[in-house]
Amino acid sequence: MTRLLLDVDTGIDDALALAYLSSLADVELVAVTASPGNVDAIQVARNTLSILELCGRDGVEVAVGAESPLAIPLVTTPETHGPHGLGHAVLPEPRGTISPRDAVDVWVEAVRAQPGELTALITAPLTNFAMAIRREPRMPELLKNVVIMGGSFYYQGNTTPTAEWNTHVDPHAAKEVFQAYVGLPRDRLPIVCSLDSTERMEMNPEHVRRLAAAAGCGKEELVLPGQPEGLRSTSDNELIRHLSDALRFYFEFHRLYGQGYIAHVHDYFAAGVAAGTLSCTTRLATVDVETDSPLLKGTTVADYRNLWGKPPNARIVSSNHPAAAFDELVSSLGALAARRGQGHD
Ligand code: BDR
Ligand code: CA
Repeated sequence: MTRLLLDVDTGIDDALALAYLSSLADVELVAVTASPGNVDAIQVARNTLSILELCGRDGVEVAVGAESPLAIPLVTTPETHGPHGLGHAVLPEPRGTISPRDAVDVWVEAVRAQPGELTALITAPLTNFAMAIRREPRMPELLKNVVIMGGSFYYQGNTTPTAEWNTHVDPHAAKEVFQAYVGLPRDRLPIVCSLDSTERMEMNPEHVRRLAAAAGCGKEELVLPGQPEGLRSTSDNELIRHLSDALRFYFEFHRLYGQGYIAHVHDYFAAGVAAGTLSCTTRLATVDVETDSPLLKGTTVADYRNLWGKPPNARIVSSNHPAAAFDELVSSLGALAARRGQGHD
């Protein structure tokens, strides 16, 4: 059993990650906290509750913490994820409510209660995680594993020419988190899924078609580049319908930026690494984050050669397997959608 503590900014690819994790019988979602990023934190929490309920994970605690990054104003990204964070999808109102607990309390109490048991997955700016480490400096030792989606190492950014979105939204938090890992044993260091590996996860219309087929949908789920933008799915499977509507928006966004009618599903990859279902190799590095320069704010730098003379503080993913990852997504999430469509699970 993998026991996960998540922090997300749901977000189309966060939603896919949550849906995928929900499909895994041996993954327990201990709690999910919301960081502001793609949308504001309350909207993140509402999106997260709705997705978890659609996936049959009602009752998972969803909490909010920070309302803005540590030191700079929040910037959200409706052009990437749509006005409410899930593209063209209009999710049902969540039945559950946002936890009265603060996200930092959730993290600190969970790791203290179950030292060495929990794996952290953060697919959002590192705001809540940095605050949790401030409150409980032993956090890196108390967690079993940490997987972070963020950064871009000698690879172009997706927000500025050199910066990735999550680190650009809250560079101060990212800097603090990496600083907290300096000098820790190698097996404690965060596994960092940066754009260099996550942009290899190119989801395309054929994957959506296969996903719907695996879910047993009555007709083919066709999300095609020639169709009008914003066309809504008529799938008879509710989960597939919402994922399809969300992914269509993500395809349109990537096409707008010259990347083709595909979507980089960054957070799904990080989720698979955290769950242990997607394999990868990693490379030790000392990571730091630029917080001040107007030109390079949010840029992550990896020292692979010990030029700074500081011990490593991260394990950066150096290779992954996109085709196998999409096979896994289709099969596992497709099976969950099939069960949900039949009223089971
Ligand atoms: C990251 O930024 C967000 O927009 C995505 O959800 C992902 O976590 C990719 O840079
Ligand atoms: Ca995200």
